[in-house]
Amino acid sequence: MDSLKGPTEWHEGRHGVGPWQGPTPDDPRYDPELLAEGDRRNVVDAYRYWRREAIIADIDARRHPLHIAIENFENDANIGTVVRTANAFAVDTVHIVGRRRWNRRGAMVTDRYQHLMHHPDVHSLLVWAIRNDLTVVAIDNTPGSVPLETAELPRECLLLFGQEGPGVSEEAQEGALMTCSIAQFGSTRSINAGVAAGIAMHAWIRQHADLGASW
Ligand SMILES: C[S@@+](CC[C@H](N)C(=O)[O-])C[C@H]1O[C@@H](n2cnc3c(N)ncnc32)[C@H](O)[C@@H]1O
Repeated sequence: MDSLKGPTEWHEGRHGVGPWQGPTPDDPRYDPELLAEGDRRNVVDAYRYWRREAIIADIDARRHPLHIAIENFENDANIGTVVRTANAFAVDTVHIVGRRRWNRRGAMVTDRYQHLMHHPDVHSLLVWAIRNDLTVVAIDNTPGSVPLETAELPRECLLLFGQEGPGVSEEAQEGALMTCSIAQFGSTRSINAGVAAGIAMHAWIRQHADLGASW
């Protein structure tokens, strides 16, 4: 089991459950090893003792038609945070554009339950989005952008984020239906890309998710 542990699972006892008490259940979703040893993973209580594949299948049955893409040409450190938030909102797939490698630390093991797809460049991502009937919305505070706070986001949607420094590439913005900006009021030119992704994902959730289906 130790090989399956991640950053949020190192300090056993902080959350989770011990070995299953009583007769062993025969539900195939349960993992015999977790039943025997306890389950300290970073999963909601409803998934305690479940096999990873069973958890993924359960989320798959109710994932949102929302996709997230982040450009990764300079090895962006925010991707882990984006993946963790995408997992929390049952996003369909997180698309990494550019470099294949990314720092998984911020994902806190949530990438195990999240579909991920790599695209070598923006063009491949845009072609994939068209083929899958997704409308691309870039998120950045560049000139000509429309306020995310009042924009109507498409339901079948791919939200595309840029990196620290360059921001969303011109090619990505040209291929998007629109670019949405998050209103700012202080001195900084921009906010952290992982934080921006969380705000934008939640904007989509407020418009399209069935809140009665949340945990
Ligand atoms: C740190 S920003 C860098 C680019 C920014 N355009 C600039 O002028 O510095 C990195 C990414 O975070 C997101 N982001 C940061 N602040 C944002 C805002 N106020 N509105 C929309 N997106 C934002 C965008 O996806 C952006 O590409």
